[in-house]
Amino acid sequence: MEKIYNGIWKLRWGQPEKISPLTLTKIHPSQEALDNLHCLGNPPISISDIEIKETTRGLKIELPLKEGEQIYGFGLQLHRLNHTGRKKVIRVNSDPIADTGDSHAPVPFYVSSAGYGVYVDTARYATFYCGTNLSKGASEHQKNKQKSVGTSEIELYGYQKAEGDRSMVVDIPATKGIDIYFFEGPDMKGVVQRYNLFSGGGTIPPAWGLGVWYRAYSAAQNEDVMRLAENFRNDSMPVDVFGFEPGWQTRAYSCSFLWDDNRFPNHEEMLENLFNMNYRVNLWEHVFVHPSSPMYEELIPYSGDYEVWEGLVPDFALKEAREIFAKHHLQYFIEKGVSGFKLDECDSSDFVHSNWSFPDIAQFPSGLDGEQMHNMLGVLYQSTLLEVFKKENKRTLSQVRASGALASSYPFVLYSDLYNHKVFIRGVVNSGFSGLLWSPEVRHAETAEDLIRRIETVVFSPHALLNCWRIPNPPWMQVDQDKNKRGEFFDDFERVRELCQSLFQTRMSLIPYLYASFANYKYTGVPPFRALVMDYPNDPNTYDIDDAYMMGDSMLVAPIVSGETERNVYLPEGRWWDFWTDTLYEGGQSYIFKPELGKIPVFIKDQSILPLAAPLENVKDDSIFDITVKVYGENPKDFFLFEDDGTSFNYEEGLYNWVRLSWNSDRKGGVERKGDYAGRRYQFSNWESK
Ligand code: GAL
Repeated sequence: MEKIYNGIWKLRWGQPEKISPLTLTKIHPSQEALDNLHCLGNPPISISDIEIKETTRGLKIELPLKEGEQIYGFGLQLHRLNHTGRKKVIRVNSDPIADTGDSHAPVPFYVSSAGYGVYVDTARYATFYCGTNLSKGASEHQKNKQKSVGTSEIELYGYQKAEGDRSMVVDIPATKGIDIYFFEGPDMKGVVQRYNLFSGGGTIPPAWGLGVWYRAYSAAQNEDVMRLAENFRNDSMPVDVFGFEPGWQTRAYSCSFLWDDNRFPNHEEMLENLFNMNYRVNLWEHVFVHPSSPMYEELIPYSGDYEVWEGLVPDFALKEAREIFAKHHLQYFIEKGVSGFKLDECDSSDFVHSNWSFPDIAQFPSGLDGEQMHNMLGVLYQSTLLEVFKKENKRTLSQVRASGALASSYPFVLYSDLYNHKVFIRGVVNSGFSGLLWSPEVRHAETAEDLIRRIETVVFSPHALLNCWRIPNPPWMQVDQDKNKRGEFFDDFERVRELCQSLFQTRMSLIPYLYASFANYKYTGVPPFRALVMDYPNDPNTYDIDDAYMMGDSMLVAPIVSGETERNVYLPEGRWWDFWTDTLYEGGQSYIFKPELGKIPVFIKDQSILPLAAPLENVKDDSIFDITVKVYGENPKDFFLFEDDGTSFNYEEGLYNWVRLSWNSDRKGGVERKGDYAGRRYQFSNWESK
């Protein structure tokens, strides 16, 4: 067991595979920030408590798990927060419909409530048995114990809480050696901070990325795009990013990566028009390269041995494939002003009727097999494009449908074709354990109420995205797809539009607060969106809360889904202020709230300073946020805004400021800037104290 960073230990057993997330991902651990974290100085698990064995399948690792330990993490787990007593397979999948571990972004990393974390560096479909079984003989003492006859499945097979210690058993196929990393806490937040800092620190999106995103109808043509774009501006609907879906290309499924001249006869002029209206443009694509693509011939030697949707699968573990892809994207899109991409279909399908993706036994010229490539493709795809943006010194916030281990520093947000609203909320809660960002995107809605409830969630999430790829008109005009296509609108669409507009404005007013939370993610590793149990690890009431979360350090968000008129919200210890009404609540207890439409339950922690901006319609490169500083309670903690140009990587060279907001005992506000960024992104017009 070797200490490799402050609070991080590495255990090597046997000869690990050459291919692993760590060998493929170019991470640069944030050494200085890791050094600043308090560390106890001992590995959280003693080497004598770990058993590793070669098996006929590969490797078995057995790690201790104490009776009361709760297990979190494993990436974007949409179906469960607390994995104690469950089996999780780390296998990437596009339709993770059940609680099996399959996920758009599975990560072989778990966090224990006992205050440590374990990362197993494998790209294989590893299975984690989180205290599911006792070892042979352990139940002998139960010999004479009576048990009544079970008459329901749940009584017969239901999960039984551990009576005594169990273990974490990890099964890794096709592997003869492994590197395991242990992260100290002292608590779960500390563990996650270390994991994120080890991965290079969290990402800071460009400021515009935190605004509202609208992805337009897949079959839209030039004039449809312009009509939508103009209407948003005429109606003062805040929208920052305009997204194009597959129809922009001559071929999608597989992709040509070329603009379709029929639908977009002069796409450069259209882009110019969009840029002049201050939109950023994001293009949908996937990784499979159609024979008509200019990249096709060059990529042949650097692709896997099976096609998908008649297209090549580039081997992004090879420099050559990355460069060909990067060059095309730079020349055709990024140099033309495109701000980002939606990297679709880089997960794999097993549970839906389809013939994709490549088989697990596929071979790639770099030496990866299909299994490893499936688990790595999302991450490799992200880094291939991120490198281009880095070289251009332009930040992006983009989308991706698959990710994995050590991806904390990637400015990509995950999404899914699943659509259960509660599952989507759980995604926000869970992704924070594993360095991932997740969008509970709004795609369609059953009713106007459903639409508003979903928009409420999305504006209090990492990514305020409306993915309207199936409807030509905005959903606030009509949610029914057929009627929307026929142009039959709600009688009261103005009311619905107003509710949406007001929620979008709320999002815009939160950008400086969110931006600071992301900067905190970068420099301290604290995820901007996280489960309550991370902030309140000693409160068992928070262990299983998967429908409310912390957004930044001061906001607790409790979304509500359509059809429910009230919900229970547990407020942890301390006092909490209702964001909308300023009513004060005592924590340590639950309350029932009946939120009106458009007003999701949101609470501000007592003794917080919250910067709220006058809502812009979009974030321009030179926008200045006009801030009202809200002060909650007596002796609030200082708040630090992050100030830089919002679009380049110059902050990595030290060109940023921390703007300290304080409230002194004379009840006066103070603003103090420190740092080397000469520009000003914030002005302070007003202080309000509660
Ligand atoms: C799906 C993707 C959707 C949409 C669609 C377009 O795979 O998840 O968001 O982009 O493709 O074909």
